[in-house]
Amino acid sequence: MIYIDPPYNTGNDFIYRDRFAEDADSFLRRSSQKDEEGNRLVANTEANGRFHSDWLSMMYPRLKLARNLLRDDGVIFVSIDDNETANILRLCVEVFGEENFVGTIIWKNVTDNNPTNIATEHEGIHVYAKSRLSLESVWKSIASTIKNALIRIGEELAQKHSDLDELQNEYSSWFKENKSQLGALDRYKYIDFDGVYTGNQSVHNPGKEGYRYDVLHKETKMPCKEPLMGYRFPEEAMERLLSEGKILFGKDHNKIIELKVYAKDYEDKLSSVFDLDGRTGPYDLKQLFPEIKRAFSNPKPISLLERLLSFSASSTDICLDLFAGSATTAHAVLQLNAEDGGNRRFIMVQLPEPCDEKSEAFKAGYKTIAEIGKERIRRAGKKIKEESAATAPNLDTGFRVLKIDSSNMRDVYYTPDAIDQKELPGFTDNIKPDRTSEDLLFQVLLDWGVDLSLPIRRETRQGKSVFFVAEEDNENALVACFDTGVDEALVKELAKLDPRPRRVVFRDTGFASDAVKINVEQIFRQLSPHTEVKAI
Ligand SMILES: C[S@@+](CC[C@H](N)C(=O)[O-])C[C@H]1O[C@@H](n2cnc3c(N)ncnc32)[C@H](O)[C@@H]1O
Repeated sequence: MIYIDPPYNTGNDFIYRDRFAEDADSFLRRSSQKDEEGNRLVANTEANGRFHSDWLSMMYPRLKLARNLLRDDGVIFVSIDDNETANILRLCVEVFGEENFVGTIIWKNVTDNNPTNIATEHEGIHVYAKSRLSLESVWKSIASTIKNALIRIGEELAQKHSDLDELQNEYSSWFKENKSQLGALDRYKYIDFDGVYTGNQSVHNPGKEGYRYDVLHKETKMPCKEPLMGYRFPEEAMERLLSEGKILFGKDHNKIIELKVYAKDYEDKLSSVFDLDGRTGPYDLKQLFPEIKRAFSNPKPISLLERLLSFSASSTDICLDLFAGSATTAHAVLQLNAEDGGNRRFIMVQLPEPCDEKSEAFKAGYKTIAEIGKERIRRAGKKIKEESAATAPNLDTGFRVLKIDSSNMRDVYYTPDAIDQKELPGFTDNIKPDRTSEDLLFQVLLDWGVDLSLPIRRETRQGKSVFFVAEEDNENALVACFDTGVDEALVKELAKLDPRPRRVVFRDTGFASDAVKINVEQIFRQLSPHTEVKAI
């Protein structure tokens, strides 16, 4: 799944650096907003003809990319408020197609008491599929923070009491106090030694005629009132439910029986209206950065993201966020994995946007927003690991940081007639001098389409530094040496590795002699014919 929370284009939250076909300056000149001396004629405000256009030009390629990256059954969630709702919806229709609209979630996140026409107390999350037809037809989630709280309180009280009435009494007073915060679970008012439960009317057969038989009330021994259209289950199924104690009776036979449903079996639906105080986002962040008053403006709440993820990302999915900010999405992925034992992974993308020098984050030493995001993932990972040491001992909270850079290869500007012989030695190395072996390794991983998050070890072989990238079935899936002076002894050692390497790569100028370079292919053909060998 992909989640994006782009700048909402409120007039000051969005920075723009991409190059347009026409640059901003010439546009301003052409549209008479700047004179020939380059003086601005109008302020760059919302009234500026490019106000929405700038933002849309930034969004369009990102949405296109998002669509290309999605799996066929993948979905994108797009957060936005009224400033750009109309525009982003048009853009999404253009990129994803009208038929792939899944729905809109209205997130009620604030209370607005300012005098106005309409007090805006929500923002939207619009959902599109790459292919609506490939999408799972029903979304259900077993994860819910409230459900977890009910399970926990049920276990605590069941340990404390051995008498059922006492257990119910204590739970009833807890329930009365907390009912207003239980949301969709505010009917779970009963408890027994198996946990908190409610009565559910799903014994009814809605719409059409169901099964008809008598269910005797357990005390009055009279047939209980039948649902209007009869029961949903055949008689044998009802007998099994009765024997398992899964049927709840009213005070007497005049009440229709109910099905006993435990909080632990509760499955949530993703409703189009979601009520969650937006201040939880800053609060979540403050828990991790107690030393900074406000590390980042308007981070999303972890539970909002956890909710979206729990419906749309199965346990091994990759979750991408193209506007990572403080990396709430990564935090939510780790939290959800800890809760449901999943192994979801995340990719956070963040522009190297500098922090405002007057901001608290800058004063605390964070020069860019990306630095805040990285530190948040570290702190969140540590905290979640500590909290779930018993329940999720193998939780993986590691991550790798990669920065976009220009090519590692030297730019060649010259045509053959533009260079003379004495310059040739300067062209022997095709790699830029400031590039490290890691830079080259990640280029190779990208070129070969190898997962960038695979484990990498570095060892010294024959006095040279060698990288080993491990895939699940081969710890030598990719072996790379970018040192110079590579001789036949090293080439032979690598060709004899057990298991045999899938791919081996050297630096084109890294061989001790031309003879070694020529022999490499031969050595591998003899010792490890299936290895793909490459020099860059
Ligand atoms: C609303 S914030 C995302 C907040 C994030 N969801 C969180 O919970 O922390 C928007 C992000 O978009 C980034 N941004 C601003 N202008 C951008 C641009 N032109 N291209 C890409 N990202 C941009 C900002 O750096 C910021 O991190």
